[in-house]
Amino acid sequence: MCGIIGIVGDKPVAERLLDGLRRLEYRGYDSAGLAVLDDGKAARRRAAGKIKALESAFEADPVDAHIGIAHTRWATHGAPNETNAHPHRAGRVTVIHNGIIENFRELKDELHAKGRTFVTQTDSEAVAVLVDQAMDEGITPREAVQGALSRLEGAFALVFLFDGEDDLLIGARRGSPLVVGLGDGETYLGSDAMAVGPLTRRVIYLKEGDWAVATRAGATVYDEDNQEVTRPVALLEANQAVAAKGNHRHFMEKEIYEQPEVVARTLSAYVNEDLTISLRDGLDFSQFSRVLITACGTASFAGEIARYWFEQVAKLPVEVDIASEFRYREPALDTGALALFISQSGETADTLAALRYCKDAGLTTAALVNVPESSIAREADIVLPTLAGPEIGVASTKAFTCQLAALAALAVAAGAQRGALSKDEATAHARSLMHAPHLMNKALETETDIQAMAQELSRARDVLYLGRGVYFPLALEGALKLKEISYIHAEGYAAGELKHGPIALIEDGTPVIVIAPHDKLFDKTASNMQEVAARGARLVLISDEKGLKEAADLEPAGIAAPEADPLIAPIVYAVPVQLLAYHVAVEKGTDVDQPRNLAKSVTVE
Ligand code: AGP
Repeated sequence: MCGIIGIVGDKPVAERLLDGLRRLEYRGYDSAGLAVLDDGKAARRRAAGKIKALESAFEADPVDAHIGIAHTRWATHGAPNETNAHPHRAGRVTVIHNGIIENFRELKDELHAKGRTFVTQTDSEAVAVLVDQAMDEGITPREAVQGALSRLEGAFALVFLFDGEDDLLIGARRGSPLVVGLGDGETYLGSDAMAVGPLTRRVIYLKEGDWAVATRAGATVYDEDNQEVTRPVALLEANQAVAAKGNHRHFMEKEIYEQPEVVARTLSAYVNEDLTISLRDGLDFSQFSRVLITACGTASFAGEIARYWFEQVAKLPVEVDIASEFRYREPALDTGALALFISQSGETADTLAALRYCKDAGLTTAALVNVPESSIAREADIVLPTLAGPEIGVASTKAFTCQLAALAALAVAAGAQRGALSKDEATAHARSLMHAPHLMNKALETETDIQAMAQELSRARDVLYLGRGVYFPLALEGALKLKEISYIHAEGYAAGELKHGPIALIEDGTPVIVIAPHDKLFDKTASNMQEVAARGARLVLISDEKGLKEAADLEPAGIAAPEADPLIAPIVYAVPVQLLAYHVAVEKGTDVDQPRNLAKSVTVE
């Protein structure tokens, strides 16, 4: 989704605005722009494509000032071209926007009737015209913005710059996050902490409906009722301020390698020294009849895996929904259920909407999130952290395995609370959990074998991923990883489902990636491998030594994962699944960290 940064201060801002946009690239975008007050008037530089195109436009016609705003745009209304790139300008008002203004057409009609004209197809331009029109009627920028905010419907984070006002930026948030950074004689506005991190570690996370008047001296915050409020000033962790690739080629590679450490960190937030498991905010699973898990994408596959754990370990019924489908199936909700939302960003619009739907229905809501100040975290009754640290690669890796680790801990705690596990059984599971980081480290050693097969797989047109039990959702995740970063079509299937249609896809050489440790389902999966091998499939088997030995007659390309306790094995097997997608994408030469058309956090429905 779009990235926002604004600076009002006493030093040149242009280079720091560009720097801020580079830090926001991970959010996904297809055009970019900046505006600074040049001799009292906003001067814009914009370009379609990546930041490099904007840097060229800026270098061709440089401009600077002590106040400015900048934006990376992920197109919603209007093609990703220079005309539609932000900042948008109307009269004296220049604006950058993240989100969707749902009533922009109605506003445009009203403004057309007042003789105003428009040059773009965007909803954001309508906001600039609305504020400028109000100022034409003689009110101040602050009053004009306040009035405009009451007219807007939809989700937005906005930052306004005004001709002739070199010590004023106004920011507003509703449905899309916005932070205020407090500097020394400077004030910053950004779509997240990453934007302002290197400029300051003192940030104010604006709450839903807040808007802020920023000057060199600081910021005044108003709530949705336009009452001045005091919001807490948070101190950013050092690692939240700056994310760097280190000696890795991509953030995704770095984040794959960070997993043992951040999974251990996440587990430490749940599993105590004595191997008991502590839950936050008084979460007691014995109070609930079932768990409703709702999420999107990779987070939903974490939820699907957790369903097996909750039902097997805690005997607790679980339903899992894709967030964009959940509300529209009009689920029969009972207030005895716990509604659990899983989200790395905590800003996914569909997941946030599902949370609100469940809150309105009177359910207790819990959020498993990687960003504790996010909208989903703020609105949930119970917040359960993953401690993956900032995840920059659009393809989720470390957040996924941290979600799994936390969910496995929750399932064990639920089993103990509900009497489905004895104390010894719960302790044994917790001990297995604490062993996961070590085994994930060993799983990283599969990289050499994976790299060796990546070139062959990169030439595939279609790839099938198969798994049974918890490895079925992991097959879905593997297919998603491959699709989203290598652009190769891939599908995940329950291995037993193959004969009900998908086996028709198998041609000579079709790659079939089978995720199957030598567990109680292995023999059944081995039959499925025979079926596809008999039809010419190119088998890749991710298993332990025992499984690879048993399947040797099929001559699969083997990836030897370490032997792992069944509870934690999906967490360990996620590592080769991620590495496979990563190396195929590297072979394909795609933009691994910012794949085409994708955004890190989908803040629009
Ligand atoms: C994961 O690789 C994808 N980038 C995407 O499916 C992501 O998991 C999904 O958009 C959910 O995001 P969230 O966890 O921030 O809610």
